[in-house]
Amino acid sequence: MPITSPTKVAHVVYRTRRFDEMVRWYGTVFNARVQYSNPALAFLTFDDEHHRFAFANMAVFQPDGGAGEKQNSIGADHVGYTYPSLRALLENYEALREQGIRPYWCIHHGITASLYYADPDGNQMEFQVDCLESSHDASDFMAAMFAQNPLGVEFDPADWLARLRSGTPETELLDRQKHEPISLIRGVFAQFISAQ
Ligand SMILES: [Fe+2]
Repeated sequence: MPITSPTKVAHVVYRTRRFDEMVRWYGTVFNARVQYSNPALAFLTFDDEHHRFAFANMAVFQPDGGAGEKQNSIGADHVGYTYPSLRALLENYEALREQGIRPYWCIHHGITASLYYADPDGNQMEFQVDCLESSHDASDFMAAMFAQNPLGVEFDPADWLARLRSGTPETELLDRQKHEPISLIRGVFAQFISAQ
């Protein structure tokens, strides 16, 4: 099965201990606006994408860290790439699986359905498909649902692909009706969260 390339680079997520300063800096330098923020997470954009940057506030996620923590606890967490459809995303999941390449986190964020992969160096990336029609709808979703669950719920991409192939419409799978349980963060980020 052929590998599908993404249609665009969508966003970068950073872990930071200068949360407010970083949000201000990116707001200034990219003339970006805040789409959604709480004390732990902020999402910014500068165009019609729902977010071009997100920032995870390590002072909230790991209040005991700081001077003694590992160097890589701050910095880029992942880069997001968008695929043209859920079917493309999931068929690519299957093609990569045939190459022995598997995601470490499969999560329905609500604004995107996302498969997270790590390269051989451990750099993380998110292969995603948009769930909503527009960035306006995505902003509405963040405003309505992120207070309850800002991370999302996990899903099984093999199950979703089987359902698609048996006739379930993409729109039915992409509409996040289920908001619990809130997924634990996976990947490198999880190493820096004391509670996990
Ligand atoms: Fe992301």
